[in-house]
Order: sequence, then structure tokens, then C-alpha cells
Amino acid sequence: MTGRPRVLSGMRPTGRLHLGNFLGALDNWVRLQADFDCFYFVADWHAFTTEIPGKGEIAANTLEMAADWLGAGLDPERSVLFMQSLVPEHAELHLLFSMITPVSWLERVPTYKEMVEQLGIQSPSYGLLGYPLLQAADILIYRPRYVPVGVDQAPHIELTREVARRFNHLFGPVLLEPEIKLTAIPKVPGTDGRKMSKSYGNAIYLADPPEVTVPKIKTMVTDPARKRRSDPGNPDICPVFDLHRIFTPDAPRAAVDRGCRTAGIGCLDCKGVLIEHMQPPLEAIRERRERMAARPDHLREVLYEGSARARRVASDTLGAVKAAVGVA
Ligand code: TRP
Ligand code: SF4
Repeated sequence: MTGRPRVLSGMRPTGRLHLGNFLGALDNWVRLQADFDCFYFVADWHAFTTEIPGKGEIAANTLEMAADWLGAGLDPERSVLFMQSLVPEHAELHLLFSMITPVSWLERVPTYKEMVEQLGIQSPSYGLLGYPLLQAADILIYRPRYVPVGVDQAPHIELTREVARRFNHLFGPVLLEPEIKLTAIPKVPGTDGRKMSKSYGNAIYLADPPEVTVPKIKTMVTDPARKRRSDPGNPDICPVFDLHRIFTPDAPRAAVDRGCRTAGIGCLDCKGVLIEHMQPPLEAIRERRERMAARPDHLREVLYEGSARARRVASDTLGAVKAAVGVA
């Protein structure tokens, strides 16, 4: 575990993860375990920034997500898996950061305006404005080398680096400027052809058994110009083919491509090939995630133990921060 560069990343507890979440983040987290000292956490305080969750909602969503994490192959023996709210040092560091960060830096973060506009928030909270600053504290308190995230998070990592520089400039070199480790995110369409998203109701979940996944694929939107079996299709604009690009090996994928363009195969044949290649890897994850979901006490124990480990690192950094700042 020691000697390897550290990575840190987090996810808000949105509940069950879908293929888009898996291919855009979790799968990468799993792979990073081979080469890095990994810290991964549930950003449960961040769940409050856009709306107040119902009572019990965060706990339930955290367990569902943890089941997916372990199902997909995150390994508590190799990685530190923890909860933000169990490491209060994040909140303390965030408080200090709030004193040294100009409001204008936060107003400039593009995700702030986007969230306000997209969600139609009438009166944005102080916490929503401060979202990326809490994220900066989440990161800097572990002094990681890399933060693996998608490009949507780049402005937050940039702000994190600015805050680290400002802190070090004001109080001395305590914090480390981490680098973004951009996750290559494949195009993952949902069953209606739009981007896969929980809120669109078009998602395929890691928890979905074959009796749910197979019909979702079979009814999935295809090239709309291909109305009849005898019409040739265009894989370049077909969402089903985007999934082939992810799951189907080159040779059978090339055969599907040809068959589609020449009307040699029908869409159901094409989807059959996809199912054949996507089911086995997803089934392995689903079975493991089901075993994990059946043991909520174990999942909680994993997160509590991980949080105790994370806390040791976080309180070290906070100690150095407090000494540098001059508070007790
Ligand atoms: N903002 C991130 C997201 O929405 C979640 C997050 C919170 C995070 N704190 C973090 C990611 C720290 C990386 C590091 O995906
Ligand atoms: Fe899409 Fe496959 Fe049908 Fe072609 S054959 S339109 S790639 S589903």
C-alpha cells in the first residue's frame, strides 16, 4: 500500500449505479487499485447541496452504492472505502477554506450556474455555492497525487489547486497540489437513445438481473431510419451500436456493422449478439453485488472501518494545517 502514489475520488450517494456510472467512473476506480494507493468515498454531505434528502434516504442510497462498489470489484483490503460524514476533518478544513477563498472564485465555477439553471433553483444555498470548496477540502486533506474524475469535474479540480496554492502561500507549504486524472468516458446511451441517466428513466442498472436487462435491450431504440428488416441501417448513428463498441470484440462487431449496413441481419439479431457479449461480465458483477446487498451489516462495517483509516490520514493533515494557521 505504501510507496504507491495516492489517488482519491468520491461519488454522491445517488443509490443504485447504472452502466453510465460504471463505465464513466467505477470501472476505472477498480482498475486503479492495481497501481495506486486508493481512497474512495461517499460524498454524503454533498447530497444536501441541491435538495434536502428525505430521512433515511442517504443511508439507503449509500448501502446500494456500496453494494455496487464491492460488486464491481472495489476491494476494502486494497482501497480505503469511506464516508465523508464519518471524517469530520473534511468539514473543519472546509470551514478554514471558506475564510481564505474569495466568493468571486466560487461564483465563477461553471457548474454552479449550470446547477442553478438546470434545476431551476430559486434561491441557491450557501452550501451549493460552496460545493466545490467542500470538494477541495475532501481532496486536499488526503494529499493525493491524482484525482480520477470525468471532464465535468475539471473546474472543481482547478479550484482545488488554486485553493492549495493560496493556502501554501498564506501559511507555508502544507498542502499538495493534486493533478486531475481524466477518465476517458465512453458514450453510454440509455434505452431511449439519450445519454443514460437515472432521471430519464432509460438506465440499465448493475443490479438489474437478465430478465430485466434483456427486455431493456430488446426494446431499445435503434437507427430510426431502419423501419423494416429489409432496410439497411447505419451503425454510426445507432445507440445499440454504441453499446457494441463497449462490449463486443472487434471481429463480431465488424460482422454486425456489415450485416446492419447490408440488411443482412435484423436489429433483433444484432441485439442478440450484444446481449451475448454484455451479459457475462455484467452477470458476474450482479451476482457479487447481490451477495453484498444481502449483507448490509458487512457493508456498513466496511465503510466504518475505512472511515477510521481515512480519519487517521485526515487528522494528520488537519493537525499540520492547524499548526500552520496557528489555531489550537
Ligand atoms: N463532485 C463530485 C461529483 O459530482 C463528487 C465529489 C465530491 C468528488 N467530492 C469529491 C469527486 C472529491 C472527487 C474528489 O461527481
Ligand atoms: Fe442498430 Fe444493430 Fe439495428 Fe443496425 S442492426 S440499426 S446497429 S440495432
